[in-house]
Amino acid sequence: MNDADLHAHLIGQQGGRKSLNTPVLVIELDALERNIEKMAAFAREHGLVLRPHAKTHKSADIAKKQIAAGAVGVCCAKLGEAEALADQGVDSILITSPVVSAPAMARLVKLNERISDLRVVVDNPDNIRALDLAASQTSATLAVLIDIDPGIHRTGVPSAEAAIELGRVIASASALRFLGVQFYCGREQHIESYDERRAAIVDRTDFLRSVMEALSGSGLAPQVVTGGGTGTHKIDAELGVLNELQVGSYVFMDRQYNDCDLVGEGADQPPYETALRIDARVVSTNTQGVATVDSGFKAMATDGGPPVVLDGAPAGTPFHFMGDEHGLIVVGDAQLARDIVTLGVPPRSYREPVRPLSHCSRRDAGRYLASLWARQVSIADCLTFERDRPTGGVGLETNAHPPLGRRWKVAGNRRFAAIAHLGRFCLDRSSARLFELAQMAAPSIPAPRDILAPRRVQTSP
Ligand SMILES: Cc1ncc(COP(=O)(O)O)c(C=O)c1O
Repeated sequence: MNDADLHAHLIGQQGGRKSLNTPVLVIELDALERNIEKMAAFAREHGLVLRPHAKTHKSADIAKKQIAAGAVGVCCAKLGEAEALADQGVDSILITSPVVSAPAMARLVKLNERISDLRVVVDNPDNIRALDLAASQTSATLAVLIDIDPGIHRTGVPSAEAAIELGRVIASASALRFLGVQFYCGREQHIESYDERRAAIVDRTDFLRSVMEALSGSGLAPQVVTGGGTGTHKIDAELGVLNELQVGSYVFMDRQYNDCDLVGEGADQPPYETALRIDARVVSTNTQGVATVDSGFKAMATDGGPPVVLDGAPAGTPFHFMGDEHGLIVVGDAQLARDIVTLGVPPRSYREPVRPLSHCSRRDAGRYLASLWARQVSIADCLTFERDRPTGGVGLETNAHPPLGRRWKVAGNRRFAAIAHLGRFCLDRSSARLFELAQMAAPSIPAPRDILAPRRVQTSP
């Protein structure tokens, strides 16, 4: 049974929310739409191009709402996300991480032929040459932006000199077009104090400005200066160096951002609303003072701490993880009003491939199921990798992600199996991590290219 089988009959039914199969991601549609409108208005008022990051929602439905409200298109962290959104009609996409493998570059240039506006960041001269070669075999020129490392050391070039070097390689490429620079200060986004965040971004923006001046001095003036996130958007607008905003999390908000004073008006005055929640069901109350709900490690991201209880039990009720499928809420003497407890999601939970579908509700005090939205990224897959010849390999299993492999076990069997709840587009990174772990355990594990293509097996929800 898939989520549509389980839930489609509830659409439009008053109170249908309580009959959803739990745990379930629930989008409060009114809050979502207010967030989308508010950020679009902010960008408009500040003369900024809005290109929200779709890594937050991985949903064409939401991307289209953002575009309808004024966004020019979206950002994607991965090629697979971009392909999925393009399939659904999104035709202006910036891929914010370098695309480096030969098969991925081949897909990238194909995608470039099929949508009107595809952009990708680069941070390495060899990658630029390879992209040029791939694009030269197609009918479309590929737009590239130089990724500038703000000091996070994830991707990007660290200096003006390195940026100029890349700019020159791009300029000499016949099938590429230099569009500008990307600058995403990931580390600074969640600094809780507005003043401290502002000081950090002022410093980083000075660095960006120096790189842009050097590029312009070399005849490589960037047309697009893209970056920023929910935590810094107000400061970025004020500083006026970025001309395109890549904000992502504002659309849902999460617990970590709710702890921040986002726009300098106090952490208790968040400008954006918590639009994404998890509904969990109470499954056991046999122990005095506690209730067990059906949401555990698999229902949400766990690297940002436990969720907060928002509804169904007194606000602030402590939550403790009790394994993969369970959580414990400490209710004390309080009576539970309902058997459904609504949780505010820890950061990145929406990026988790825990549920194939999201549900949105509005009207009827948020208990009316308006529709089911597919999450393009969130098909729970079971992937099996097999060696060509199963002779003395190693088995490896995991059911947690991310970071994938946090809870993995190596079994000394003859097969290298990676069984994971992986999103389709988490696949590249996740499988790379699995291979890494497997190789640590058994160096004889073949390199990824020697491993047969993964078989996709869809699990039931
Ligand atoms: C490159 C890039 N741009 C923009 C964003 C969106 O930032 P936020 O979710 O803080 O709004 C992210 C998020 O991780 C990102 O990696």
